[in-house]
Amino acid sequence: MPIDILSSAIFDGPETIPGWSYIKTYVPIVTALGAAKYYFGGSANTSDRNMHGRVFIVTGGTSGLGAEVVYQLAQRGAQVVLLCRLVQDQWTVDFIDDMREKTNNNLVFAELCDLLLLHSVRQFATTWLDSSTPRRLDGVVCCAADCTPRGSARSVTVDGAERQMAVNYLAHYHLLTLLRPSMHVQPPDRDVRIVLTTCSSQALGPIDRDDFLWEKRAYPQNAPWKVYGASKLLLGIFGRLLQRDLLAYERPDSAPCNIQVSIVNPGIMRTASTRRALSFGTIWGLLLYILLFPVWFIFFKNSYEGVQSVLFALFAPVFGPHDGGNLIQECKILTKGREEYYDYELQDQIFKYTAEAIDTMERNSAIERKKEEKRLGLDKVNEKKRVDKMRDLSQKPTTTEELEQKLLAMRELMNFPLGNPKIEAEVLAQASGRETKKIQPKKKGKRKL
Ligand SMILES: NC(=O)c1ccc[n+]([C@@H]2O[C@H](COP(=O)([O-])OP(=O)(O)OC[C@H]3O[C@@H](n4cnc5c(N)ncnc54)[C@H](OP(=O)(O)O)[C@@H]3O)[C@@H](O)[C@H]2O)c1
Repeated sequence: MPIDILSSAIFDGPETIPGWSYIKTYVPIVTALGAAKYYFGGSANTSDRNMHGRVFIVTGGTSGLGAEVVYQLAQRGAQVVLLCRLVQDQWTVDFIDDMREKTNNNLVFAELCDLLLLHSVRQFATTWLDSSTPRRLDGVVCCAADCTPRGSARSVTVDGAERQMAVNYLAHYHLLTLLRPSMHVQPPDRDVRIVLTTCSSQALGPIDRDDFLWEKRAYPQNAPWKVYGASKLLLGIFGRLLQRDLLAYERPDSAPCNIQVSIVNPGIMRTASTRRALSFGTIWGLLLYILLFPVWFIFFKNSYEGVQSVLFALFAPVFGPHDGGNLIQECKILTKGREEYYDYELQDQIFKYTAEAIDTMERNSAIERKKEEKRLGLDKVNEKKRVDKMRDLSQKPTTTEELEQKLLAMRELMNFPLGNPKIEAEVLAQASGRETKKIQPKKKGKRKL
């Protein structure tokens, strides 16, 4: 039968093929759409690395591109620490459980780090660095982003920074700057990779030398992508500067720099932030988004297609010599980018300004936090004074709490070990003359791992 159709098509013309008029109309369209889908799916990464035993920190790992990064790393056996703004809510717990199950890897963890708060970033970094033996760190992948939909009013964080600037730029700047000691102590043979995700909207992000963080200029409510783009451009510029700084750092063992910074543009993806941006954060916009889904399906990548360039930045063998972070798109290192990426003077200026701005914001926030603690009666200094007063042994106790505190103070004065009933019983027995056994010093127990 197919041979009959084929032979009549050859000898009598294609009109003899059943349904030829439909084929003639639709096949070119379907082929063109298929070709477009394939083309817009982007390039595939071909490099791979053994990830077993490696440790990565990922921001924005609970959604879209970040979730795909976590999946790809965990599937290869890496330990992945996700920085999340909530860690104990049911959604995050389920997400982590799911990820562990899907990847058959229990080394996926969530740590609290709300990128909207500089203090939260500092708390995470301090905990990370606060270890007598340096922690292993093979990479940091920065995927978190805040994308404000068109029409929303300017929103500022408690530190006083514009929201998109705060999450996309300041938080990542702060995190990576604070984590630098952890990067430097990694042994020289450890290939540490830092990935900063950027976006094509950086092309729309103007850099104002008098107002880097969009503090003085009017907020473009109808074009918030300008602020988003500016925040991404600043992040990319910071990446370039960070790489230069890391290269200039002299290791105590004189080994060459083993840290590579990449600024990766994954391409447009059908993720939550794209959906929010395209629907303007409205229900009507969402309906329109759903109606037009076939368009997004063809022209936008899914997160697996988007993650390819990130994987390239993480897995590709040693990159060529470079003076600043690599700009990566479609699994290729770009040789050209915005002129700001090559303006070292501007980079130094931005770095200095950002460092000062973060310092001021953190200080002001700390003062505000103290005031709030005072207002809520949580002030630590006052609390200590109150406890000290209760512990004053020259005064008679008037409440049970005071009595307990005074007893505690007496125990401490008499060098009574606290909270070990066995030893306390022995001491009491000894004091009453019932037993003369010597009190054994407290044995050091094995630490639980
Ligand atoms: N989507 C695109 O088309 C596109 C194009 C080019 C570049 N990119 C870049 O790719 C990256 C990922 O984009 P995406 O579309 O995959 O993003 P997404 O799905 O919207 O996910 C954003 C992630 O950031 C996290 N996040 C936001 N605010 C946070 C905060 N205050 N503290 C901690 N985490 C916070 C979110 O956590 P929650 O789960 O708590 O919300 C979420 O995990 C971004 O850097 C983006 O700029 C995306």
